[in-house]
Amino acid sequence: MSTHFVWHDEQLHVEQLPLSSVAEHFGTPCYVYSAAAFRQHFLDYARPLEGTRHLICYALKTNSNLAILNLLARLGAGFDIVSLGELERVLAAGGDPGRVVFSGVGKREDEMVRALEVGIKCFNVESEAELERLNEVAGRCDQVAAISIRVNPDVDARTHPYISTGLKDNKFGIAIADAERVYQRAAELPHVSPVGIDCHIGSQLTELSPFLDALDRLLTLYDRLAEQDIHIKHLDLGGGLGVDYAGEIPPPVADYIAALRQRIGNRDVELIFEPGRSIAANAGVLLTRIEYLKPGEAKNFAIVDAAMNDLIRPTLYQAWQNITRVDQRQTHDTRHWDIVGPVCESGDYLGKDRELAIAQGDLLAVHSAGAYGFVMASNYNTRSRPPEVMVVGDQMHLVREREPLATLWAGEALLPEAAIAPQ
Ligand code: LLP
Repeated sequence: MSTHFVWHDEQLHVEQLPLSSVAEHFGTPCYVYSAAAFRQHFLDYARPLEGTRHLICYALKTNSNLAILNLLARLGAGFDIVSLGELERVLAAGGDPGRVVFSGVGKREDEMVRALEVGIKCFNVESEAELERLNEVAGRCDQVAAISIRVNPDVDARTHPYISTGLKDNKFGIAIADAERVYQRAAELPHVSPVGIDCHIGSQLTELSPFLDALDRLLTLYDRLAEQDIHIKHLDLGGGLGVDYAGEIPPPVADYIAALRQRIGNRDVELIFEPGRSIAANAGVLLTRIEYLKPGEAKNFAIVDAAMNDLIRPTLYQAWQNITRVDQRQTHDTRHWDIVGPVCESGDYLGKDRELAIAQGDLLAVHSAGAYGFVMASNYNTRSRPPEVMVVGDQMHLVREREPLATLWAGEALLPEAAIAPQ
């Protein structure tokens, strides 16, 4: 749990504000973030990098609320994007396009054109076909696109298979064995300029060795390219460290950075990071209220007002996120509960077999929900997505309203009468 979610008088607070007052104000379910936590987690990367050439490109996919992007942009963040939509969000939030790197295996032409138009820092190219297309598109725009090749270093990140990306059999990047040839090709093409080497081996890594193994392979490539007069200016090491969901103890970011620098030695490169989870996860919780308790012979169910459509990580990855009562003052009997939502699927749960002393009407907090929470929410079962509230000190700010129901079908249309009238 983040140090910005703390207990005072047996009540869970976000910074100096009781979470219960956020629920009273904005209802549940509701995402609640701590501005101080976002700031601190960003500075955990920035501080050890001070005095070196670096760029911390926050991965938008983690949590792309404009208030968060704006806060991070003011701290000097760059951004890692994977779509046109994410690029437009950076611009809408006042981010600097010159600090944007564009990842993703399926960049469309229109996305490339817009990124060239606003002048992003670098395209992280994930295939030879993409390289050829980018060269063509940049040519048409009369530009030279700065590129990194995302290499697949074939290291095992030892994380959940859905979020492990650096193995040979993943769809991401170009096999490290082919990378040299692809860089040579890039060097020949008139409208791309190879400036970086990029990799991202997976997410929720709680040990350093896979990152360092990947770096070693990148550095070998870096040195070989230098011999061929291809001078790389930056190394992009992809996503950040894992976080504490269930007692994991990831190494401090400063140790990670120190280990990287030691390996890089006196090579003159800018370091780029694309952290997401380590900045956002423990900067947010999902608040939800218990609608009904349904104790049973085989299982006890607590049915809450948040569901898989609000937070899909448990359903999709069997992810474990801590669930606590927000107010511990009243005591009830302790039992084991499955915390489930109202969606009509057996997979709709937030936590299983949790030992909790709860009653109907209690407010619960699902912890570590700031990353891959709201951004993965859907409207399944025609449920509106929850509001997002940012707390600063003892003040709450609504940074996204609860989706009004009518907007859920606002873009839909009935068939014209003639199309359905009997012939
Ligand atoms: N850069 C690239 C190219 C990525 O694909 C990702 C995450 C990141 C950076 C950020 O990595 P982080 O610092 O967050 O580890 N939805 C899943 C996680 C998917 C991660 C996808 N890529 C989850 O909820 O666990």
